[in-house]
Order: sequence, then C-alpha cells, then structure tokens
Amino acid sequence: MYRIGEEEVEEVRKVLLSGRLFRVGEGMEGHLHEVDQFEREWAETIGTKYALCMAGGGTAALICGLVGMGIGPGDEVIVPGYTWMASATAVLAVGAIPVIAEVDETLTLDPEDVRRKMSPNVRAIIPVHMVGRACNLQAIPNIAREHGLMVLEDCAQAVGGSYAGRRLGSWGHAGAFSFNYFKIISCGEGGALNTNDRMLYERALIYHDGGATFRPFAKDLQVPIFVGLQLRADEVMGAILRVQLRRLDGILSDLRRIRKRFEQELSEGGLRIAPNNDPEGDCGVAVAVQFPSEPQARAFATAPGVNGWLPIDSGKHVYSNWEPLLQKRVMHHPDMNPFNHPRNQGLRTEYTPEMCPHTLDILRRTVFISLHPDWSEDEVTRRIEACWAAAKEAVAG
Ligand SMILES: Cc1ncc(COP(=O)(O)O)c(C=O)c1O
Repeated sequence: MYRIGEEEVEEVRKVLLSGRLFRVGEGMEGHLHEVDQFEREWAETIGTKYALCMAGGGTAALICGLVGMGIGPGDEVIVPGYTWMASATAVLAVGAIPVIAEVDETLTLDPEDVRRKMSPNVRAIIPVHMVGRACNLQAIPNIAREHGLMVLEDCAQAVGGSYAGRRLGSWGHAGAFSFNYFKIISCGEGGALNTNDRMLYERALIYHDGGATFRPFAKDLQVPIFVGLQLRADEVMGAILRVQLRRLDGILSDLRRIRKRFEQELSEGGLRIAPNNDPEGDCGVAVAVQFPSEPQARAFATAPGVNGWLPIDSGKHVYSNWEPLLQKRVMHHPDMNPFNHPRNQGLRTEYTPEMCPHTLDILRRTVFISLHPDWSEDEVTRRIEACWAAAKEAVAG
C-alpha cells in the first residue's frame, strides 16, 4: 500500500455510522452497498464481466478461481517456482497437485518449461505476474488453448498492470488479486476474482458464501448451491477499496515514471536491466537488474544507498523454501491431504529443492530495487547515482 488518507477515513466513517456493515442487503432495497459498487467498478477497471471481492486475500481468490474452474483431485496445475507459496498451496486446497515450473529471465513463468512439463493430467496453468511484471500472455494462453487448459492469472503483485494494453486479470479464464497490506492498493487484507465466465463466477460466488442459499441472488443462480466456505467481504473493506481504486492509476503512473528513469539511466550506466514481457504495462513497483554472478549481485545490492534485494532471499516466494508442500504436510487430516487421495496417485508429486535450477540461478543473480511513487526527482537522482557508483564496484569486484 502506497497511499492512504482522510478520504478512506471519511468513507469508513460513513459506513460505521450507517450501521450497515454487512454486504448483503436483505430488507435494504435501494441502499447502495459499498462491496457491490466496488465489484462493479473493479470489473470495469480490469475489463471483465464479473468481479467477486472477498475476505481471505489473494489466496482465497486463487482458491475460488480454481473452484470456479472445477479443478480437483486427479488434476495437475502448473505454477512457477518463483511466487508466493499461496499460488501453489491454493492448488492443494482444492485437492489438486501443483507441478512446479521454471521462471525465465523475466522472473515470470517460462513458457518453454510449461511445454516441457505438460502431461495429460494438467488441467490448468497459473501464470504469476511477479513484482508488477506481466507473464508472457502471448505464449502461455496459446499453450493452454493447444492443450485445452484453464488459465488462472495470479495478479496479486501486479494490481492494475497490463499486457499489450489490456489489464492483467482479463487475459486468462480468471484473474486473482490481493489487496493485502503489501499490495499496490490495500484494505489491509482481502482479494478479488475477475472473470467473463458466468458459471465460473457462480461457482466461486457460492463457494465463498456459506449462506448463499439464503441470499436474494440465490434464485438467479444456474449452478445448484453447494457447501463452501465463508469468505465474504464486509462494507468497511468495500469502502476502503473504492477510495484506493480511485488512487490506483495515479500510483501506477508515478511508479512507472520513476521506473522508466531508473531503467534508462541504469542501462546508460552499464547495468543490465532484466528482460520484461511488457515494459509499458509493468506496474513499476521495482526495477530488476541482472548480473553474471551472485557475488556481483550481492555486492551491488548491499552497496551504500542502493537498498537492493535478491529474490533468492525472499523466503516463501522461492519454491525451495516451501517446506510444508515439499514435505507434503497438507490439511489437518490425512484423508484430506491431496497427496493421499487415490485419484492423485500416479501424478507428479515428487518435489526436491533442486528441481528448478534455472529459477534458482536467476533469483541469485537478480537484484530488485523497490520504488515508491512519492519520491521526488531529487530523491530518484540520488538513488540512481548510488546505483552507478555501486555498479562500478560490483563489476570491478
Ligand atoms: C504472487 C502472490 N500470490 C498470492 C498471494 C496471496 O495473497 P494474500 O496474502 O492476500 O492471500 C500473494 C501475497 O503475498 C502473492 O504475492
């Protein structure tokens, strides 16, 4: 979250004083609910027919997306080895098996490795737009079409970003977003699922609302109501998100302007900027610089004034640190552990910390410099100069 202020306070205040904190409006005809309005605005922003806002964050949105796609035991889902662990654990939460694939130098899912990892059991691909950077949305949907697979975009770290001029989250069969505290816009926690597919939307809607049977919208549903969870958003979340949404394009344009300056001036200073599937659509949350070796990357990242970080150090964003998954400790009961499910026997369930060596190599040689939309031009100049000085040292060292 980059910006928050009195506007959010005012909207939350109105919701609290109205006493109407529940998103569903039995007996409130004519009352405009914040969550309903946010969903309409969010669907329009992303360019999809439907948006479902929910508690439970991007994790819940991914799970609802997979539920909406009908993914379950017997299915494999391809996820990249560089992503927050939830992209893979969401697959387990619906009873399916994640197959971990390499990222390429763009830091996103490598289409070539997706092809190599294809099997008749693969039902879906989760391309993750990491650190504001779009995946290759030409190649990945093509592979999916060739093999009749679903595509669930994980847009948690790229809220508002785009590819070829179209917003992320509108390219796949569904897109999952996170509004947790660390994301581009935030209501503390929370997420959203976007799709054009009515049946997918209905299944996700039912799954996320344990009381769906009793809602006014129940009569309009074509999917028979089944037992799910309780992940409903509340009106305070809706009110905050509506204000945050109004800030989104301003945040993105400031981040992008700063990122452009960094990239241009760092390449002039001899640094190698990581390749990007769509530099224009990048959210601009960070600049990625790549080095021939890890020691050079570390020397650069830790030099005075650079404030860089190596993705290999980012804990549960690296598959080799996903211990509960690697050790197959899933769910509270052995019979609910997808690794024990009869339909998953024979799928690819063997994981090792070394299984995506190319990913580990790239994550060790890349340095991210996180950016902030409120930096002044002077501040940006100071930081770029620090990078130039560090680059000389790193390359010389
Ligand atoms: C790529 C990615 N996917 C999914 C998630 C899950 O989002 P949340 O924490 O809102 O559940 C995150 C959150 O950090 C993420 O970075």
